[in-house]
Amino acid sequence: MKPVFAAVLAVACYVSPTWAGDPAVGKSLSAQCSACHGKDGLSRDPEAPNLAGLSALYLEKALMDYKKGMRQDRRMSLIAQGLSKENIEHLAAWYSAFEVSVKAPDI
Ligand code: HEC
Repeated sequence: MKPVFAAVLAVACYVSPTWAGDPAVGKSLSAQCSACHGKDGLSRDPEAPNLAGLSALYLEKALMDYKKGMRQDRRMSLIAQGLSKENIEHLAAWYSAFEVSVKAPDI
């Protein structure tokens, strides 16, 4: 491989990583989400859904849909428009890393 091509490839990989987001970066970005979605990803706002433990695939799709206008909400559309694709991946990595345990009601 020619050195110039290798350098271009290296830059291309760095600029558009194909690997998943970094949960540590997502954690710091999530400060702007916690008022509605809870610090632990469990929402205290009855209108906002829990994010903890959702799959990264689903979280990324939901945020990209708000960003592109395919899904609309007066709060989330604005917020998602301010997020880069990379930051969406970081946030998805953070919230999907939560382990959630549930207890079905005793009926
Ligand atoms: C002002 C309150 C508020 C803030 C701040 C906020 N959200 Fe939301 N979020 C909501 C509400 C309300 C909904 C439900 C909207 C709907 O019905 O589509 C939602 C929906 C979502 C969904 C879709 C979940 C699902 O189950 O489909 C994701 C993902 C999400 N928010 C991520 C985030 C992230 C990441 C941040 C921070 C960058 C953030 N939100 C900040 C209120 C908020």
